[in-house]
Amino acid sequence: MHNFEFHNPVKVLFGKKQIENIKHLIPQNKNILLTYGVNSIKTNGMYQRVTNNLPQVNNLIEFGGIGANPEYNILLEAVSLSKLEKVDFILAIGGGSVIDGTKFISASVNFPISDKWQILKGQSSKISNPVKFGVIQTLPATGSEMNEYAVISRNETHEKLAFGHKELFPKFAILEPEITYSLPNRQLINGIIDPFIHVTEQYLTTNINTPLQDGYSETIMRTLINLAPKLFSKKNDYEVRANWMWCANNALNNYIGLGVDEDWATHAIGHELTALYGLDHAQTLAIIAPQLWRYKKDQKRQKLIQFARNIWNINDKNCNTAIEKAIFCTEQFFNNIGMKTKLSDYNIQADATTIANNVIRNSKTGAIGEHNNIMFDDIVNIINMSN
Ligand code: NZQ
Ligand code: ZN
Repeated sequence: MHNFEFHNPVKVLFGKKQIENIKHLIPQNKNILLTYGVNSIKTNGMYQRVTNNLPQVNNLIEFGGIGANPEYNILLEAVSLSKLEKVDFILAIGGGSVIDGTKFISASVNFPISDKWQILKGQSSKISNPVKFGVIQTLPATGSEMNEYAVISRNETHEKLAFGHKELFPKFAILEPEITYSLPNRQLINGIIDPFIHVTEQYLTTNINTPLQDGYSETIMRTLINLAPKLFSKKNDYEVRANWMWCANNALNNYIGLGVDEDWATHAIGHELTALYGLDHAQTLAIIAPQLWRYKKDQKRQKLIQFARNIWNINDKNCNTAIEKAIFCTEQFFNNIGMKTKLSDYNIQADATTIANNVIRNSKTGAIGEHNNIMFDDIVNIINMSN
Protein backbone atom coordinates (compact mmCIF):
# COMPACT_ATOMS: atom_id res chain seq x y z
CA MET A 1 0.00 0.00 0.00
CA HIS A 2 1.29 3.48 -0.81
CA ASN A 3 1.83 6.10 1.89
CA PHE A 4 -1.08 8.42 2.46
CA GLU A 5 -2.22 11.34 4.57
CA PHE A 6 -5.90 11.51 5.35
CA HIS A 7 -8.04 14.31 6.73
CA ASN A 8 -11.70 14.81 5.90
CA PRO A 9 -13.27 17.44 8.16
CA VAL A 10 -16.78 17.50 6.64
CA LYS A 11 -19.56 17.18 9.19
CA VAL A 12 -22.24 15.04 7.56
CA LEU A 13 -25.92 15.21 8.56
CA PHE A 14 -27.74 12.40 6.81
CA GLY A 15 -31.42 11.46 6.84
CA LYS A 16 -34.84 13.00 7.38
CA LYS A 17 -35.51 16.56 8.59
CA GLN A 18 -31.82 17.47 8.70
CA ILE A 19 -32.53 20.90 7.16
CA GLU A 20 -33.89 21.94 10.56
CA ASN A 21 -30.32 21.84 11.86
CA ILE A 22 -29.01 24.60 9.61
CA LYS A 23 -30.03 27.17 12.20
CA HIS A 24 -27.29 25.70 14.42
CA LEU A 25 -24.71 25.29 11.67
CA ILE A 26 -24.77 28.69 9.99
CA PRO A 27 -23.22 31.61 11.91
CA GLN A 28 -25.75 34.07 13.35
CA ASN A 29 -25.99 37.77 12.53
CA LYS A 30 -23.64 37.47 9.58
CA ASN A 31 -23.91 38.14 5.84
CA ILE A 32 -25.03 34.88 4.27
CA LEU A 33 -24.98 34.08 0.55
CA LEU A 34 -27.36 31.38 -0.71
CA THR A 35 -26.19 29.78 -3.96
CA TYR A 36 -28.43 27.54 -6.04
CA GLY A 37 -29.23 26.28 -9.53
CA VAL A 38 -31.82 27.22 -12.11
CA ASN A 39 -35.19 26.28 -10.63
CA SER A 40 -35.37 22.85 -8.94
CA ILE A 41 -35.16 24.13 -5.35
CA LYS A 42 -38.01 26.57 -5.99
CA THR A 43 -40.30 23.84 -7.32
CA ASN A 44 -39.52 20.98 -4.92
CA GLY A 45 -39.93 22.97 -1.71
CA MET A 46 -36.28 23.00 -0.66
CA TYR A 47 -35.88 26.78 -0.98
CA GLN A 48 -38.83 27.36 1.33
CA ARG A 49 -37.59 24.85 3.88
CA VAL A 50 -34.12 26.37 3.94
CA THR A 51 -35.30 29.94 4.29
CA ASN A 52 -37.72 28.87 7.06
CA ASN A 53 -34.86 27.34 9.03
CA LEU A 54 -32.14 29.94 8.73
CA PRO A 55 -30.80 31.52 11.90
CA GLN A 56 -31.04 35.27 12.48
CA VAL A 57 -28.87 36.81 9.76
CA ASN A 58 -27.55 40.30 9.21
CA ASN A 59 -28.03 40.22 5.44
CA LEU A 60 -29.32 37.38 3.27
CA ILE A 61 -28.04 37.55 -0.31
CA GLU A 62 -29.07 35.15 -3.07
CA PHE A 63 -27.31 33.99 -6.19
CA GLY A 64 -29.36 31.56 -8.28
CA GLY A 65 -28.87 30.37 -11.85
CA ILE A 66 -25.71 28.29 -11.45
CA GLY A 67 -26.48 25.81 -14.21
CA ALA A 68 -25.05 22.39 -15.02
CA ASN A 69 -21.31 22.53 -15.71
CA PRO A 70 -20.93 25.78 -13.75
CA GLU A 71 -19.80 28.60 -15.99
CA TYR A 72 -16.82 30.75 -15.05
CA ASN A 73 -18.31 34.09 -16.17
CA ILE A 74 -21.50 33.53 -14.21
CA LEU A 75 -19.52 32.58 -11.12
CA LEU A 76 -17.44 35.75 -11.42
CA GLU A 77 -20.67 37.73 -10.92
CA ALA A 78 -21.17 35.88 -7.64
CA VAL A 79 -17.57 36.64 -6.63
CA SER A 80 -18.19 40.39 -7.20
CA LEU A 81 -21.46 40.20 -5.29
CA SER A 82 -19.75 38.42 -2.39
CA LYS A 83 -17.10 41.13 -2.17
CA LEU A 84 -19.65 43.93 -2.42
CA GLU A 85 -21.86 42.45 0.28
CA LYS A 86 -18.95 41.31 2.46
CA VAL A 87 -20.24 37.76 2.59
CA ASP A 88 -19.18 35.79 5.70
CA PHE A 89 -20.62 32.38 4.86
CA ILE A 90 -22.08 30.65 1.80
CA LEU A 91 -24.81 28.01 1.80
CA ALA A 92 -24.89 25.99 -1.43
CA ILE A 93 -28.10 24.14 -2.28
CA GLY A 94 -27.93 21.86 -5.31
CA GLY A 95 -26.05 19.17 -7.16
CA GLY A 96 -22.36 18.97 -8.01
CA SER A 97 -22.50 22.04 -10.24
CA VAL A 98 -23.81 24.38 -7.53
CA ILE A 99 -21.42 22.93 -4.96
CA ASP A 100 -18.42 23.15 -7.30
CA GLY A 101 -19.41 26.67 -8.33
CA THR A 102 -19.61 27.60 -4.66
CA LYS A 103 -16.12 26.21 -4.02
CA PHE A 104 -14.86 28.45 -6.83
CA ILE A 105 -16.67 31.51 -5.43
CA SER A 106 -15.32 30.73 -1.97
CA ALA A 107 -11.76 30.41 -3.26
CA SER A 108 -11.91 33.46 -5.53
CA VAL A 109 -13.03 36.13 -3.08
CA ASN A 110 -9.61 36.38 -1.43
CA PHE A 111 -7.51 34.86 -4.24
CA PRO A 112 -4.43 37.10 -4.61
CA ILE A 113 -4.32 37.08 -8.45
CA SER A 114 -6.86 39.25 -10.29
CA ASP A 115 -7.32 36.65 -13.07
CA LYS A 116 -9.39 34.07 -11.18
CA TRP A 117 -9.06 31.53 -14.02
CA GLN A 118 -5.52 30.97 -12.71
CA ILE A 119 -7.14 28.88 -9.96
CA LEU A 120 -7.92 26.37 -12.71
CA LYS A 121 -4.58 26.85 -14.45
CA GLY A 122 -2.28 25.41 -11.84
CA GLN A 123 -2.29 28.24 -9.27
CA SER A 124 -4.74 26.70 -6.80
CA SER A 125 -2.01 26.38 -4.16
CA LYS A 126 -2.23 30.18 -3.84
CA ILE A 127 -5.78 29.93 -2.47
CA SER A 128 -5.88 31.29 1.06
CA ASN A 129 -8.61 32.27 3.46
CA PRO A 130 -11.52 30.97 1.36
CA VAL A 131 -15.00 32.00 2.47
CA LYS A 132 -16.46 29.26 4.68
CA PHE A 133 -19.39 27.35 3.20
CA GLY A 134 -21.80 24.52 3.88
CA VAL A 135 -23.79 22.46 1.38
CA ILE A 136 -27.16 20.82 0.94
CA GLN A 137 -26.69 18.08 -1.66
CA THR A 138 -29.78 17.54 -3.83
CA LEU A 139 -28.39 15.12 -6.44
CA PRO A 140 -26.39 12.03 -5.46
CA ALA A 141 -23.62 11.76 -8.05
CA THR A 142 -20.39 13.67 -7.66
CA GLY A 143 -19.41 13.32 -3.99
CA SER A 144 -18.56 17.04 -4.12
CA GLU A 145 -20.40 17.53 -0.82
CA MET A 146 -17.62 15.66 1.00
CA ASN A 147 -14.51 16.41 -1.00
CA GLU A 148 -12.26 19.35 -1.79
CA TYR A 149 -12.48 19.28 -5.59
CA ALA A 150 -14.41 21.34 -8.12
CA VAL A 151 -14.80 21.35 -11.90
CA ILE A 152 -15.47 24.65 -13.67
CA SER A 153 -16.38 25.28 -17.31
CA ARG A 154 -15.52 28.24 -19.52
CA ASN A 155 -17.66 28.30 -22.61
CA GLU A 156 -15.79 31.03 -24.49
CA THR A 157 -12.63 28.88 -24.60
CA HIS A 158 -14.32 25.43 -24.56
CA GLU A 159 -12.48 24.55 -21.37
CA LYS A 160 -13.60 22.42 -18.46
CA LEU A 161 -10.96 22.16 -15.73
CA ALA A 162 -10.68 20.78 -12.23
CA PHE A 163 -8.97 22.10 -9.13
CA GLY A 164 -8.79 21.22 -5.47
CA HIS A 165 -7.53 22.66 -2.20
CA LYS A 166 -7.43 21.28 1.31
CA GLU A 167 -9.32 24.29 2.68
CA LEU A 168 -12.24 23.71 0.31
CA PHE A 169 -13.97 20.92 2.16
CA PRO A 170 -17.49 22.08 3.06
CA LYS A 171 -17.98 22.86 6.76
CA PHE A 172 -21.04 20.63 6.70
CA ALA A 173 -22.96 18.52 4.20
CA ILE A 174 -26.68 17.84 4.55
CA LEU A 175 -27.97 14.78 2.72
CA GLU A 176 -31.71 14.26 2.83
CA PRO A 177 -32.58 11.31 0.57
CA GLU A 178 -36.18 12.55 0.13
CA ILE A 179 -34.98 15.56 -1.88
CA THR A 180 -34.03 13.13 -4.67
CA TYR A 181 -37.71 12.25 -5.29
CA SER A 182 -37.99 15.26 -7.59
CA LEU A 183 -35.09 14.24 -9.85
CA PRO A 184 -35.91 13.50 -13.51
CA ASN A 185 -34.81 10.14 -14.99
CA ARG A 186 -31.87 11.73 -16.80
CA GLN A 187 -30.32 12.70 -13.46
CA LEU A 188 -31.12 9.31 -11.89
CA ILE A 189 -29.15 7.71 -14.72
CA ASN A 190 -26.28 10.18 -14.37
CA GLY A 191 -26.31 9.65 -10.63
CA ILE A 192 -25.67 5.93 -11.02
CA ILE A 193 -22.98 6.15 -13.69
CA ASP A 194 -20.86 8.94 -12.19
CA PRO A 195 -20.26 7.24 -8.81
CA PHE A 196 -19.78 3.86 -10.52
CA ILE A 197 -16.97 5.34 -12.61
CA HIS A 198 -15.54 7.20 -9.60
CA VAL A 199 -15.08 3.76 -8.07
CA THR A 200 -13.53 2.22 -11.18
CA GLU A 201 -11.10 5.14 -11.50
CA GLN A 202 -9.75 4.14 -8.07
CA TYR A 203 -10.21 0.36 -8.33
CA LEU A 204 -9.55 -0.78 -11.92
CA THR A 205 -5.87 0.06 -11.71
CA THR A 206 -3.07 -2.02 -10.18
CA ASN A 207 -3.22 -4.94 -7.80
CA ILE A 208 -1.06 -3.85 -4.85
CA ASN A 209 -2.72 -5.94 -2.14
CA THR A 210 -5.32 -3.53 -0.72
CA PRO A 211 -8.20 -5.83 0.24
CA LEU A 212 -9.99 -3.28 2.43
CA GLN A 213 -10.12 -0.61 -0.29
CA ASP A 214 -11.00 -3.21 -2.92
CA GLY A 215 -13.83 -4.70 -0.87
CA TYR A 216 -15.20 -1.24 -0.05
CA SER A 217 -15.12 -0.34 -3.76
CA GLU A 218 -16.74 -3.62 -4.78
CA THR A 219 -19.55 -3.15 -2.26
CA ILE A 220 -20.29 0.33 -3.62
CA MET A 221 -20.43 -1.03 -7.19
CA ARG A 222 -22.62 -4.02 -6.29
CA THR A 223 -24.97 -1.79 -4.30
CA LEU A 224 -25.30 0.64 -7.22
CA ILE A 225 -26.01 -2.23 -9.64
CA ASN A 226 -28.65 -3.71 -7.33
CA LEU A 227 -30.48 -0.51 -6.51
CA ALA A 228 -30.32 1.13 -9.96
CA PRO A 229 -33.50 -0.43 -11.43
CA LYS A 230 -35.42 0.37 -8.23
CA LEU A 231 -34.70 4.10 -8.64
CA PHE A 232 -36.98 3.99 -11.68
CA SER A 233 -39.54 1.41 -10.59
CA LYS A 234 -40.09 2.60 -6.99
CA LYS A 235 -39.85 6.36 -7.27
CA ASN A 236 -40.38 7.26 -3.62
CA ASP A 237 -38.61 4.39 -1.86
CA TYR A 238 -36.71 5.99 1.01
CA GLU A 239 -34.36 3.06 1.66
CA VAL A 240 -33.33 2.86 -1.99
CA ARG A 241 -32.71 6.63 -2.16
CA ALA A 242 -30.79 6.60 1.13
CA ASN A 243 -28.47 3.81 0.02
CA TRP A 244 -27.94 5.46 -3.34
CA MET A 245 -27.10 8.82 -1.78
CA TRP A 246 -24.59 7.29 0.62
CA CYS A 247 -22.99 5.20 -2.15
CA ALA A 248 -22.53 8.27 -4.34
CA ASN A 249 -20.95 10.08 -1.42
CA ASN A 250 -18.56 7.26 -0.56
CA ALA A 251 -17.48 6.84 -4.17
CA LEU A 252 -15.61 10.16 -3.96
CA ASN A 253 -15.17 11.17 -0.33
CA ASN A 254 -11.54 10.01 -0.53
CA TYR A 255 -11.82 6.77 1.48
CA ILE A 256 -11.57 4.18 -1.30
CA GLY A 257 -8.64 5.98 -2.92
CA LEU A 258 -6.37 5.85 0.12
CA GLY A 259 -3.05 4.16 -0.63
CA VAL A 260 -4.09 2.82 -4.05
CA ASP A 261 -3.15 3.81 -7.61
CA GLU A 262 -5.74 6.05 -9.27
CA ASP A 263 -6.50 6.38 -12.96
CA TRP A 264 -8.84 9.38 -13.74
CA ALA A 265 -8.09 9.15 -17.50
CA THR A 266 -11.78 8.57 -18.28
CA HIS A 267 -12.61 11.79 -16.42
CA ALA A 268 -9.86 13.75 -18.17
CA ILE A 269 -11.12 12.71 -21.62
CA GLY A 270 -14.75 13.04 -20.56
CA HIS A 271 -14.32 16.65 -19.46
CA GLU A 272 -13.09 17.54 -22.95
CA LEU A 273 -16.14 15.85 -24.49
CA THR A 274 -18.41 17.98 -22.31
CA ALA A 275 -16.44 21.12 -23.13
CA LEU A 276 -16.63 20.49 -26.90
CA TYR A 277 -20.02 18.80 -27.36
CA GLY A 278 -22.04 19.65 -24.25
CA LEU A 279 -22.62 16.04 -23.17
CA ASP A 280 -23.54 15.52 -19.51
CA HIS A 281 -20.58 14.54 -17.37
CA ALA A 282 -21.87 10.99 -16.74
CA GLN A 283 -22.70 10.50 -20.44
CA THR A 284 -19.05 11.09 -21.32
CA LEU A 285 -17.89 8.56 -18.72
CA ALA A 286 -20.18 5.82 -20.00
CA ILE A 287 -18.77 6.32 -23.50
CA ILE A 288 -15.08 6.42 -22.62
CA ALA A 289 -14.62 4.03 -19.68
CA PRO A 290 -15.43 0.70 -21.41
CA GLN A 291 -13.17 1.50 -24.37
CA LEU A 292 -10.38 2.70 -22.11
CA TRP A 293 -10.55 -0.58 -20.16
CA ARG A 294 -10.39 -2.55 -23.41
CA TYR A 295 -7.47 -0.47 -24.64
CA LYS A 296 -5.60 -0.88 -21.35
CA LYS A 297 -6.68 -4.43 -20.60
CA ASP A 298 -3.14 -5.82 -20.32
CA GLN A 299 -2.08 -3.16 -17.84
CA LYS A 300 -5.33 -3.50 -15.83
CA ARG A 301 -5.47 -7.27 -16.24
CA GLN A 302 -5.46 -8.42 -12.62
CA LYS A 303 -8.04 -5.91 -11.49
CA LEU A 304 -10.28 -6.52 -14.51
CA ILE A 305 -10.27 -10.24 -13.69
CA GLN A 306 -11.15 -9.42 -10.07
CA PHE A 307 -13.88 -7.07 -11.34
CA ALA A 308 -15.25 -9.87 -13.55
CA ARG A 309 -15.30 -12.35 -10.68
CA ASN A 310 -16.48 -10.18 -7.79
CA ILE A 311 -18.87 -7.81 -9.57
CA TRP A 312 -20.25 -9.85 -12.46
CA ASN A 313 -19.78 -13.43 -11.18
CA ILE A 314 -17.77 -14.35 -14.29
CA ASN A 315 -15.39 -17.22 -13.65
CA ASP A 316 -14.15 -18.13 -17.14
CA LYS A 317 -10.73 -19.76 -17.07
CA ASN A 318 -9.71 -17.81 -20.16
CA CYS A 319 -8.82 -14.41 -18.72
CA ASN A 320 -9.35 -12.49 -21.95
CA THR A 321 -12.83 -13.94 -22.24
CA ALA A 322 -13.62 -13.05 -18.62
CA ILE A 323 -12.40 -9.48 -19.10
CA GLU A 324 -14.38 -8.93 -22.30
CA LYS A 325 -17.51 -10.41 -20.72
CA ALA A 326 -17.14 -8.11 -17.68
CA ILE A 327 -16.78 -5.01 -19.86
CA PHE A 328 -19.75 -6.10 -21.94
CA CYS A 329 -21.85 -6.68 -18.77
CA THR A 330 -20.97 -3.15 -17.62
CA GLU A 331 -22.06 -1.69 -20.95
CA GLN A 332 -25.30 -3.67 -20.75
CA PHE A 333 -25.88 -2.40 -17.23
CA PHE A 334 -25.45 1.17 -18.47
CA ASN A 335 -27.70 0.58 -21.49
CA ASN A 336 -30.39 -1.12 -19.41
CA ILE A 337 -30.84 1.93 -17.20
CA GLY A 338 -31.02 4.15 -20.27
CA MET A 339 -27.45 5.35 -20.68
CA LYS A 340 -25.89 5.28 -24.14
CA THR A 341 -22.32 4.11 -24.56
CA LYS A 342 -21.21 5.34 -27.98
CA LEU A 343 -20.53 8.80 -29.43
CA SER A 344 -22.58 7.85 -32.49
CA ASP A 345 -25.60 7.33 -30.20
CA TYR A 346 -25.50 11.13 -29.77
CA ASN A 347 -24.73 11.76 -33.47
CA ILE A 348 -21.33 13.11 -32.52
CA GLN A 349 -18.41 12.69 -34.88
CA ALA A 350 -15.66 13.42 -32.45
CA ASP A 351 -12.58 15.38 -33.43
CA ALA A 352 -10.11 12.97 -31.80
CA THR A 353 -7.06 15.13 -32.52
CA THR A 354 -8.49 18.22 -30.82
CA ILE A 355 -9.71 16.19 -27.84
CA ALA A 356 -6.34 14.48 -27.40
CA ASN A 357 -4.49 17.79 -27.74
CA ASN A 358 -6.70 19.37 -25.09
CA VAL A 359 -6.33 16.46 -22.68
CA ILE A 360 -2.55 16.53 -22.99
CA ARG A 361 -2.43 20.32 -22.68
CA ASN A 362 -4.50 20.19 -19.48
CA SER A 363 -2.58 17.32 -17.92
CA LYS A 364 0.24 18.24 -15.56
CA THR A 365 2.71 15.79 -17.10
CA GLY A 366 1.74 15.40 -20.74
CA ALA A 367 0.15 12.02 -20.05
CA ILE A 368 -2.71 10.53 -18.00
CA GLY A 369 -3.70 7.28 -16.27
CA GLU A 370 -2.43 5.41 -13.22
CA HIS A 371 0.91 4.75 -14.90
CA ASN A 372 1.00 8.15 -16.53
CA ASN A 373 1.44 6.45 -19.89
CA ILE A 374 -1.74 7.30 -21.79
CA MET A 375 -0.48 9.78 -24.37
CA PHE A 376 -1.73 11.65 -27.40
CA ASP A 377 -1.92 8.63 -29.74
CA ASP A 378 -3.56 6.47 -27.08
CA ILE A 379 -6.28 9.08 -26.51
CA VAL A 380 -6.92 9.29 -30.26
CA ASN A 381 -7.25 5.49 -30.36
CA ILE A 382 -9.63 5.41 -27.37
CA ILE A 383 -11.81 8.14 -28.92
CA ASN A 384 -11.90 6.27 -32.22
CA MET A 385 -12.96 3.08 -30.41
CA SER A 386 -15.78 5.11 -28.76
CA ASN A 387 -17.40 6.22 -32.02
O1 NZQ B 1 -30.30 23.82 -11.78
P1 NZQ B 1 -31.42 23.11 -11.14
O2 NZQ B 1 -32.74 23.67 -11.50
O3 NZQ B 1 -31.24 22.98 -9.65
O4 NZQ B 1 -31.46 21.61 -11.77
C1 NZQ B 1 -30.42 20.67 -11.64
C2 NZQ B 1 -29.62 20.51 -12.94
O5 NZQ B 1 -30.38 20.86 -14.06
C3 NZQ B 1 -31.03 19.33 -11.44
N1 NZQ B 1 -31.29 18.98 -10.04
C4 NZQ B 1 -30.42 18.92 -9.01
N2 NZQ B 1 -31.04 18.48 -7.90
C5 NZQ B 1 -32.33 18.27 -8.24
C6 NZQ B 1 -32.50 18.58 -9.60
N3 NZQ B 1 -33.69 18.46 -10.23
C7 NZQ B 1 -34.74 18.03 -9.50
N4 NZQ B 1 -34.65 17.68 -8.19
C8 NZQ B 1 -33.46 17.77 -7.53
N5 NZQ B 1 -33.38 17.37 -6.24
O6 NZQ B 1 -30.09 18.42 -11.97
C9 NZQ B 1 -29.40 19.03 -13.05
C10 NZQ B 1 -27.95 18.63 -13.01
O7 NZQ B 1 -27.33 19.14 -11.84
P2 NZQ B 1 -25.73 19.14 -11.71
O8 NZQ B 1 -25.42 19.74 -10.41
O9 NZQ B 1 -25.12 19.72 -12.94
O10 NZQ B 1 -25.39 17.57 -11.72
P3 NZQ B 1 -24.25 16.77 -11.01
O11 NZQ B 1 -24.48 16.69 -9.55
O12 NZQ B 1 -24.15 15.51 -11.77
O13 NZQ B 1 -22.94 17.66 -11.20
C11 NZQ B 1 -22.21 17.64 -12.41
C12 NZQ B 1 -21.01 18.56 -12.29
O14 NZQ B 1 -20.10 18.08 -11.27
C13 NZQ B 1 -18.79 17.89 -11.83
C14 NZQ B 1 -19.11 17.55 -13.27
O15 NZQ B 1 -17.98 17.66 -14.11
C15 NZQ B 1 -20.19 18.56 -13.60
O16 NZQ B 1 -19.65 19.82 -13.85
N6 NZQ B 1 -18.06 16.89 -11.05
C16 NZQ B 1 -17.62 17.27 -9.83
C17 NZQ B 1 -16.84 16.44 -9.04
C18 NZQ B 1 -16.35 16.86 -7.72
N7 NZQ B 1 -16.51 18.11 -7.34
O17 NZQ B 1 -15.78 16.06 -6.99
C19 NZQ B 1 -16.43 15.11 -9.49
C20 NZQ B 1 -17.19 14.62 -10.68
O18 NZQ B 1 -16.38 13.66 -11.34
C21 NZQ B 1 -17.62 15.66 -11.65
O19 NZQ B 1 -16.57 15.97 -12.56
ZN1 ZN C 1 -17.31 12.10 -12.18
